[in-house]
Amino acid sequence: MDIENEVLGRVSPSPARRKRVEKAAKTLLAHVLEAINDTGLPLEATLQGSVAKDTYTSTPDIDVFVLFPESTSRKDLETVGLGIGKSVLGGEERYAEHPYVHGIYSGYEVDLVPCFRISSPVGLKSAVDRTPFHTTYIKSHLAERQKADVRLLKQFMKGIGAYGAEAKVQGFSGYLVELLVLRYGDFRSVLAAAGSWKKGEVLDLEGGGERFDTPLVFYDPVDSSRNVASAVSMDSMACFQHAAKAYLDSPSIRFFFPRAPKTWPLPKIKKEMDKRGTGLLVVSLKRPKLIDDDLFPQMKKTAEGLQAALEAGEFSVVATSTHPMEGRVDLVFELMAEELPRVMKHVGPPVWIGHAVGFLEKWSGKAVVGPYIENGRWVALVERKYRRAPELVRGEATKAALGSSFRDLAGMEVRDTAGSLKADMKRTLSRHLDRTLPWER
Ligand code: UTP
Ligand code: MN
Ligand code: MN
Repeated sequence: MDIENEVLGRVSPSPARRKRVEKAAKTLLAHVLEAINDTGLPLEATLQGSVAKDTYTSTPDIDVFVLFPESTSRKDLETVGLGIGKSVLGGEERYAEHPYVHGIYSGYEVDLVPCFRISSPVGLKSAVDRTPFHTTYIKSHLAERQKADVRLLKQFMKGIGAYGAEAKVQGFSGYLVELLVLRYGDFRSVLAAAGSWKKGEVLDLEGGGERFDTPLVFYDPVDSSRNVASAVSMDSMACFQHAAKAYLDSPSIRFFFPRAPKTWPLPKIKKEMDKRGTGLLVVSLKRPKLIDDDLFPQMKKTAEGLQAALEAGEFSVVATSTHPMEGRVDLVFELMAEELPRVMKHVGPPVWIGHAVGFLEKWSGKAVVGPYIENGRWVALVERKYRRAPELVRGEATKAALGSSFRDLAGMEVRDTAGSLKADMKRTLSRHLDRTLPWER
């Protein structure tokens, strides 16, 4: 296949690139060893991840794990591990579920991760402790020729926006891509099989364990109590399945290397809004200083909280999207209507129920219309609190369930359709409105 050969030509390491990566990894490991010697502790520095497995694409990150004796306390592992990382890389500490240091070493991104040296991957002390077992498993099971299939599938996942288990993507990790190639044999067989996956599809190589309730399950061959696909969201899975079918029907380099998303000029955005007839509500908040793995879930939670408040106020939300920007985040709510009528319908108790009297007393004279009887119940059309969505957000946002770093609503700006059709919102609105699939751009 010409296309696949072209992709491999672009992402597989040339001998020169391979030499550079390997040299960087070697000298980095030597530096880590020096730092280990300074601690006087019996630690080990190991190369992990796709450089160790020879499954990386383009310019990889280098993953170095520092192994600690199992008897080390969690606190010592953290302080000593992060200390080594910072002395070698400078770099920044990152805590998602496990502390590690991220930095740059001779032009390569590096993750330096402290973990426990355990004798078996089952019954581990921390989630990263399995990684050395993953590396060993892949190195001993993946055939030389399948490395190309892994590279193709990784690049395919990257192209369609489904590569990476991090919160920003909620997609397929490098290890999961490798396991899929092992499970089905080669790149094209993975795509063919994915076409008939069902929601909750369960895959394994060495048998399974307990049930998991995620869209895709792949039992970890080194520890059947773990689901390697736990991060894969419904949308990432569905996107991959659709892309796989579309590619097999009509292959194109664009699946692997899509064009960058375009930022539309304002007239195009306005035309699109006219076409839809929907309304826009954009809530901008100060961007908290968080790593992506913390920022993305919090942005999502904040958008969900505001959407729930909007819906409680009878604003029907067509689509919601979140956009991290320089210094701020934009939350976009596309609404069926940005203005609601003066009245809202308040349905009361059935007429024959005792407390019907209370409803009547409360609303008689106060309701705009009624109370009147409908299907045996008292109904009143009463004055609604917020007719316009921005007013609702300004009035109710503090009571909504928001991500903790957004709870103070720092820097909040709320714009309606007219207010958001401005030059500084072009990028955000283009991302929200443009539903073209990456490979069709
Ligand atoms: P990577 O995300 O770097 O994946 O994690 P990879 O297999 O090397 O693939 P690419 O080519 O870079 O995309 C490498 C290993 O390190 C673990 C991951 O679970 C994976 O097994 N890891 C990495 C962590 O557990 N925590 C980290 O913070 C970083
Ligand atoms: Mn890596
Ligand atoms: Mn990494």
